[in-house]
Parts: sequence; C-alpha cells; structure tokens
Amino acid sequence: MRYDESFAPATIAAIRDVAPAIRELTLHPAGNAVSYPTGAHLRVQVRINGKPGIRHYSLIGAPQDGVWRIAVKREDPGRGGSRFMWSLKPGDVVEISNPASHFELAANASAYLLIAGGIGITPILGMAQVLRRRAVPFRLLYAGRSEAETAYLPEVAQCGAQAEVYFADQGRFIDLASAFRALPLDGEAYICGPIGLLDAARAAWDAGGRPRARLRFETFGSSGRFAAEAFTVRLPRLNREVHVTAEMTMLDALEDAGIGVLADCRRGECGLCAMDVIASEREIDHRDVFFSDAQHAQNRKICACVSRVAGGTITLEPAWRGDVL
Ligand code: FES
Repeated sequence: MRYDESFAPATIAAIRDVAPAIRELTLHPAGNAVSYPTGAHLRVQVRINGKPGIRHYSLIGAPQDGVWRIAVKREDPGRGGSRFMWSLKPGDVVEISNPASHFELAANASAYLLIAGGIGITPILGMAQVLRRRAVPFRLLYAGRSEAETAYLPEVAQCGAQAEVYFADQGRFIDLASAFRALPLDGEAYICGPIGLLDAARAAWDAGGRPRARLRFETFGSSGRFAAEAFTVRLPRLNREVHVTAEMTMLDALEDAGIGVLADCRRGECGLCAMDVIASEREIDHRDVFFSDAQHAQNRKICACVSRVAGGTITLEPAWRGDVL
C-alpha cells in the first residue's frame, strides 16, 4: 500500500521517561485524535543536522482524552531521529501523519501469542489491552535487557498471569520453539522487536512447520546485526560513488546525491527500494522484513531504506532506477 503523504501539526502535550532510554511523548493533534487499529503507527517529520527526515513510531494503547502517545528510544549512536525527538519540549509542535497500520490483530484466531523485545512492546501493549477488553485469552512474552531498562512493566503486569517477562541480565530468555509449540495450529503470533528476535522467530516458526501467514511481525528499521558504520556505494552504470555516513540511510545518501530511488514505506517492509547487488566487500546487514531469510542469504538484493554494509564498498545496479534527479 502507498503511505498517506499528508502531514498535520500536533502539539507535544506531555513528556515522561518510561525507562532511562525510553521517552513517552503525548501528542495533541490539531484535528481530532481519531481512533486507530491495533499495531498502528505515526510518521513524524524530524530534522537531523538541518535536513528533513521521517521516523515511524507505534501508537501506544488506545487514544485517550484527544491525545495520541508514542515512545522513542534514545539511540546513541544513532541516525539522529531519536536525538531530535528527545530534544522536544512540551508545547513544541511537530508535523505528523494520520495513523496507519500494517500490523493489525486478526479478529478470529483461535489463540493469540504476543511477543515483544525492548521498545517493541509499544504496538504489542495495545494488542494485549484489546484482547483483555474482549476477554480473549492470550499469552504475552516480553523480553528486555534488565528490569531497570524495560518500559511499561506496570501496564504489562495488568495482564496478570497471561504476561511473562524475561530479563537477559537474569539469564532469562524467551524459548520461542516451546512458545510456538504451545500455540494451537490455527493460533496467531504477533512479534515486534529487533531484527535478531524476528529472525529467530521466523526460523523457529518455520522449523515447526507452521503457516507463515499466521506469524505477523514488525521491526524497527534501525536495528541490525552490526553497529551502523560509514560505507561507500558504487554505481558503475551511473559512474558514481556515494558516501553513506553512519548516521544516514543508504536511501537518504543516494537521494542527497541526486540519484532517484523508488521508495515508499522507508522501513524495510514494501520492497520498493530494493536494488541489485553486484558485489560487496563486507557483510551485508539486511534489516528489512520484505525478503525471506533465504533471499537475504543469497545477497542479490538490498533494501536501500534500512539495510547497510558493515563498512567498505558495496557495488549496486540500480536497474531502471538511478535516474539523476
Ligand atoms: S521503501 Fe519500502 S522497503 Fe524500502
């Protein structure tokens, strides 16, 4: 689907830190704070080093008193979006999109398994709240690094015995294979977290021979296997080389260099920005959820909006893209 490109102002009504590195912002949109489906997110216009950018944030819970809530994890180092969001103060105005959801809870599953890693709790929490309201049984598994660093624990605790938390510093980790085994075959699993959690979940799900359509997931485009490093993109057909800093995406760098690349979601979901890989000096850090694990292993395509290389130079064929703007 195409993203709604329209934006409207919203005022920061309140700010609170829900963990040392996670800040919740309450937004008062200029129009009505309309209701939205589970798993919905907002697109927010940010400014990074004076340049415009877009970031996506899941909406937390149901709209309350005419406001929407999002949470932002401070990424140090990061690409700069979280620094901008953390610089905001109550009363500031930001431009936001309407809520959109590609991660909706299906209505009639026989059972629900919700899994969240870190800041991935933000869309999952709303799902748990909806299922609780409907008195539908579910199981919520929530993993964090430590209790002190994990957000929304009081809200998760309201789910009672249906919720389990796992802290890595206590040596407790989610056993995905056993959680999937306990889920009826026509049950559905919803997962949001870093790419490593999603990869492990997809592998465990496939190993159990379960239908992929019943595994639904969302990730944050910024999470990868390697820390972001600067690298170079070589485009032989265009006779161009473009430097990508650690703070920017490959897509942003190509666009800044005047090289047109088709893109839509900008979070590794739609595949529109995929480019052909000719060669790469270093390992490719695939951060999209569009291509399968097997396609990632083949390294023939790369999603320019989220994926990167761990340094060095990657040589790409932009196919029919790459028109100089
Ligand atoms: S723009 Fe959608 S995957 Fe890159």
